[in-house]
Amino acid sequence: MTTVERGKAALSVPYAMTRPDRVPSRRYYDPEFYAMECELLWPRVWQMACRLEEIEKPGDFVEYEILDQSVIVVRVDANTVKAYNNACRHRGVKLVEDRGSCQSGFTCPFHGWCWGLDGANTFLYQPDLFDEANRDPADLGLREVRCETWGGQAFINLDEHAPSLRESIEPFASFHDTWHVEDLRAEWWVSCALPTNWKLAMEAFMEGYHVMETHPQLLPAGGRARNGSAIYKAMGDGPSATQSAQIRAAAAAGTVDSRAFIDMQIHFMQLISDGMAGMTHADDVRIAEGLRDLELPADPMLANVTWRHALNDAVMAWHRGRGENMPDLNFIFDNGLTSGVNYCFPHFFLLPTYSSASSYRIRPTGPETCLFELWSLKRYAPDEEPPRPPRPTPMPPDDPRWPPIPGQDYSNLPKQQKGLHTKGFEYMRLSNQVEGMIGNYHRLIDGYLAGLDYDKLVPAVQQVSGAIDAPLRDLGF
Ligand code: FES
Ligand SMILES: [Fe+2]
Repeated sequence: MTTVERGKAALSVPYAMTRPDRVPSRRYYDPEFYAMECELLWPRVWQMACRLEEIEKPGDFVEYEILDQSVIVVRVDANTVKAYNNACRHRGVKLVEDRGSCQSGFTCPFHGWCWGLDGANTFLYQPDLFDEANRDPADLGLREVRCETWGGQAFINLDEHAPSLRESIEPFASFHDTWHVEDLRAEWWVSCALPTNWKLAMEAFMEGYHVMETHPQLLPAGGRARNGSAIYKAMGDGPSATQSAQIRAAAAAGTVDSRAFIDMQIHFMQLISDGMAGMTHADDVRIAEGLRDLELPADPMLANVTWRHALNDAVMAWHRGRGENMPDLNFIFDNGLTSGVNYCFPHFFLLPTYSSASSYRIRPTGPETCLFELWSLKRYAPDEEPPRPPRPTPMPPDDPRWPPIPGQDYSNLPKQQKGLHTKGFEYMRLSNQVEGMIGNYHRLIDGYLAGLDYDKLVPAVQQVSGAIDAPLRDLGF
């Protein structure tokens, strides 16, 4: 038990992070620790509640559930999305479930009280049966929950005193604004019911260090046999760095064979596209195929820049020709804004690449269970009707329908959750470089569990959210 801050508001945190590179195993199953997360973390954080294509028209709503809380997220008009506690003001019945459309407002299924989309009570049977104090219109309005939109998603926060969404998700937000993620739409959406703590599931996606062993198909030929740290460095940034291993090989040889170089680049694009059933979209792989005969400079670094600019130009031209609002991929590449996997505290990820992306959301459903959702996102032409994927039925982690890469990631997790209980395993030992993100966000959780104020938490959140493979950072507490 450690007190994270010695201020008057500080609470004692069980199994606290006493070293930033060691994570006590009980944080992943101890009931008291889980109860503190439920009470002190989740009610104070911005949470991705739904994608906006789920609520396109006025009256479209979704139910967002986190732990024992149910929130209605509803589109009121073209520019307004609101959220309400999902409970009738009479005797508490949930007003909606799942998702749907209610243009004329919400009606309680029990005694028929009604509310408009703006949350105002519009009807109750025989108000004179109630004492005046219990039919005060000001008291009968639906209780509003903080709701803000960014990047094609609606976020909610159960704390009315929380700082704005934007400052709470930087630098993640600005990074993805450059990618125009607000114009992506879901192509498909699936979910996995995992027998692991929610944090364990997230951490499988917070470092590229596992690629060597878990995703050997992504290694360059002969990569496994080479020096581990060199391979890791080549793999560290995910897919784009996978390709950089090939550039290193070319650099070692001192010259570039254009055809072999381009074949390898397309091969890795295809591996990611097949492995994720999206992420790098099949459209963009096909566009790359059209560039197979490009002549590249002999200098390896110049060859890489020439290839990427040519590919970016071709991808942008094809999508812009269809009327899509493409980001400037050359600006992104030239400024190094290409990190393939990016985390937004506490439970959301975006993985942008070329014209498309993947996205994850991970929610606790118990101390040792969680729901992992995965979206594949792409851009649609103005004259195309994007699909509205149904809310997914959770699949088990070993379901054969998983695309290869998440299937490989999920395969480790049940074994890891069991291993954490083993006597003699007291804490994880993290690399202070490439696994630093894990140590960073755990210490941020301790800040919430200690009851720190937002003036301490917001700068820390901004140290935590962003590109994976981050080193340990000073959070200021
Ligand atoms: S509980 Fe909703 S109207 Fe009575
Ligand atoms: Fe992985």
